[in-house]
Amino acid sequence: MSAVAEPTYGEPVHVCHRDDLPETGAAQAEVDGRLVAMIRTEDGAIHAIDDTCTHAAVSLSEGELEGCQLECWLHGSTFDVRTGQPSGLPATVPVAVHQVSVDETGAVYVALATGRR
Ligand code: FES
Repeated sequence: MSAVAEPTYGEPVHVCHRDDLPETGAAQAEVDGRLVAMIRTEDGAIHAIDDTCTHAAVSLSEGELEGCQLECWLHGSTFDVRTGQPSGLPATVPVAVHQVSVDETGAVYVALATGRR
């Protein structure tokens, strides 16, 4: 029997203000030297995933967001920004999902997922 390990996260790092993000869509940020796609969906939720497509290592934040699916601009794979799971080929490997928090002033913090780069 193999247990699925719970994700672990580093310390939250201040990344930007909520107003710095597009109303809906993605923007690139660097968090502790790691490129992260910061995504705001139509419902106002903010998500953070690795900004590197697992198929051929291009920037996902340059892709189009539809609902909760971020489409890679190069070959069209889509990733669910809530889970990091690819939902369309050719990518088959998920991207890491990071923890996002927003304080009462609108400051956005990201705690990087550890253990997978
Ligand atoms: S590089 Fe993203 S799908 Fe090919």
